[in-house]
Amino acid sequence: MRILLLGNGGREHALAWKIAQSIKCDKLFIAPGNAGTQEVGENIAIGVNEFDRLKDFVVDQQVNMVVVGPEDPLVNGIYDNFKEDPRTTHIPIIGPSKAGAVLEGSKDFAKAFMQRYNIPTAAYATFDSTTIQEGMRFLETLKAPYVLKADGLAAGKGVLILDTLEEAKRELKEMLGGMFGNASAKVVIEEFLSGIECSVFVLTDGNHYQILPEAKDYKRIGEGNTGLNTGGMGSVSPVPFATNEWMKKVENRIIRPTVEGLKAEHIDYKGFIFFGLIDVDGEPMVIEYNCRMGDPETESVMLRLKSDIVELFESVVNGDLDKQTVEFDDRAAVCVMLVSGGYPEAYTKGYPIAGLNTIDGSVVFHSGTTVKDGSIVTNGGRVIAVSSYGKTKEEALAKSFAEASKIEFQDKYFRRDIGFDL
Ligand code: AMP
Ligand code: GLY
Repeated sequence: MRILLLGNGGREHALAWKIAQSIKCDKLFIAPGNAGTQEVGENIAIGVNEFDRLKDFVVDQQVNMVVVGPEDPLVNGIYDNFKEDPRTTHIPIIGPSKAGAVLEGSKDFAKAFMQRYNIPTAAYATFDSTTIQEGMRFLETLKAPYVLKADGLAAGKGVLILDTLEEAKRELKEMLGGMFGNASAKVVIEEFLSGIECSVFVLTDGNHYQILPEAKDYKRIGEGNTGLNTGGMGSVSPVPFATNEWMKKVENRIIRPTVEGLKAEHIDYKGFIFFGLIDVDGEPMVIEYNCRMGDPETESVMLRLKSDIVELFESVVNGDLDKQTVEFDDRAAVCVMLVSGGYPEAYTKGYPIAGLNTIDGSVVFHSGTTVKDGSIVTNGGRVIAVSSYGKTKEEALAKSFAEASKIEFQDKYFRRDIGFDL
């Protein structure tokens, strides 16, 4: 099979690494990819939202399947775009239709969807510029801290958590006034939930689903979960509090009603669903849906997925995912992210990366790298994910920290406390 994977981050390198191991994969293209993905496939210089160029490429190169890494092209309707074009209508896309991607693309839609199917989530209300006064009054009925969410995609920055009512009111006004452009034309205000988070992933064919290994990610830049939010500084799988009993609750209260709700609403969904969960006194609740895999969770989840991912994708396409079994590696897997100094604020790109060929026994996934004049250089805030196995998470983390020290680039930083709270 000839497969095209879209994206250019660590998640995509991890997916590419896994796809390339499949006996079903004859050729893997990655558009646009990074310096790491070219080690397991062929990079193609086309952007993930250039649908016309992607379709030309797919037809020209007789691609049999397109796997979408990031949310952007899904929310922009790549699935529907390919389906509506007679040249590509038969080419399966792993990723939901535009109507399905709204689960991530609109927080208001996601919250209303959860309410329709009794899926446990924080209480909420949605406001726009015409109902700003009601929004202010709603804030007055809540206790601190206050959670404000831009309805639309805001590059991971659209959630504000405020300690005082005054700040919350000010930010609500700012958001509705265009702080995140059109993404904050509507704002969801929700009850603050206190607990520890866990990312649960499923693959669905629209009818059946298979649960993949869960993971926990670390979003803050600083050790002890302090400082600014980032795209993710590391991840750990499995998550100790996600016991069989807890996962049964997740499946019965959250996963099954979600898949059945999508079906009841005739929403075409063949792809990943990412459930961002929080454990509130032993009970799982949904913080958010994403219509794709997580980053940096994928960089540990792919290590624990023993099954052939392309066979799973084929079943997604054929609608017989119930015939598959997903095998997990019993070992722990973790990822430690090496980032550019200054990230998530201003940082410099283009520094040479040394030591990549000294890595032994860990898997290196490139997150933000490119090739300049024949050598690999930094090309993003998050640069390299060092993923490792271990009998325990402690063993896996010790391995990743040791290997992370062998990779050098100017102003490199990584958290040495990934997994500390588990
Ligand atoms: P989201 O983009 O919805 O995942 O929100 C980003 C982060 O904000 C989440 O990973 C949580 O850490 C936090 N968060 C979002 N909603 C809530 C909530 N209702 N209560 C507490 N924390 C939240
Ligand atoms: N790790 C969180 C995300 O991918 O959105």
